[in-house]
Amino acid sequence: MPVPQAVTSLAARLKMLDGQEIPQFGLGVYEMSDQETYDCVKRALEVGYRHIDTAEWYENEEPCGRAIRDFMKETGTHRSEIFLTSKLKHNRDYELAMQDIRASLKRAGETYFDLYLMHSAIGGPEVRKEVWKALCDAKEEGWLHSIGVSNFGAKHIQEFIDQKVPLPTVNQIDLHPFMRHPEIVKICEDNGILLEAWGPLARAMRFNHSVVQSVAKKHGKDEAQIMLRWGLQHGFVIIPKSVSPKRIKSNSEIFDFEISPEDMKELDALDEYLVTDWDVVDTE
Ligand SMILES: NC(=O)c1ccc[n+]([C@@H]2O[C@H](COP(=O)([O-])OP(=O)(O)OC[C@H]3O[C@@H](n4cnc5c(N)ncnc54)[C@H](OP(=O)(O)O)[C@@H]3O)[C@@H](O)[C@H]2O)c1
Repeated sequence: MPVPQAVTSLAARLKMLDGQEIPQFGLGVYEMSDQETYDCVKRALEVGYRHIDTAEWYENEEPCGRAIRDFMKETGTHRSEIFLTSKLKHNRDYELAMQDIRASLKRAGETYFDLYLMHSAIGGPEVRKEVWKALCDAKEEGWLHSIGVSNFGAKHIQEFIDQKVPLPTVNQIDLHPFMRHPEIVKICEDNGILLEAWGPLARAMRFNHSVVQSVAKKHGKDEAQIMLRWGLQHGFVIIPKSVSPKRIKSNSEIFDFEISPEDMKELDALDEYLVTDWDVVDTE
């Protein structure tokens, strides 16, 4: 298994298999209103985040794009320093996927997305193949710099390998000490596909666990910072969500300590297949 990469600062990037780079740390904006999205994306960029994760589904691509543009204008930051991801809500057919990509770009006010994902594998093998072809072609057009998938199980990743088509650069799945998806992680790591952890805080559902609390106490950090550092040290891209300006900042303060191999093992042992949102990795 390849040694996981781990970056040392908020804006630092990991290399993807298509040669592009992705900041290992970002802000997720699921279940945020337009105003919350605008304010939180601005706040995150101001404290140093350089990666924003939205989706057609979240209905907030527009305020993400607007906040990024305002931040760029106010600070002179170049667009290339910021990484914006969106995702395709429905897998239907080639033409509709192309239409949906164009509509997402228009809503965001962007000419390209840095990363664009199939939000799930739902639809069956034929539909997946057609939709992936659309993403590949949209990449050729320059609308998408990198393409990937989300919530794909090991068997869905195997399809790409069997079909000898370009592999996704990332697979965004629910990943935290209480949900480790070892089979999916293995096939992705063996094939150079980066794992992106959604729900990296397990939606704050296990902050009272004694192991998380004891590691936090040892480092003078809070439980959220321990769960995020765990993901970072595994080489996962992590995209915690918060609407709190204070937590947006504290969640990013994880580059000044290291969890020991023994404590990583203890955290690794907490896997209980905890589902915090949907679970579609076994879809047909
Ligand atoms: N691809 C997919 O299917 C999929 C599915 C789900 C999520 N995602 C992506 O992943 C992102 C993150 O996942 P998520 O939103 O499900 O969950 P998460 O990041 O694990 O947890 C978010 C929850 O934790 C709370 N929180 C954040 N920081 C905290 C802290 N320091 N202390 C205490 N509580 C804290 C937040 O509340 P406050 O907001 O009040 O701080 C919120 O309730 C999403 O926003 C989205 O971009 C993708």
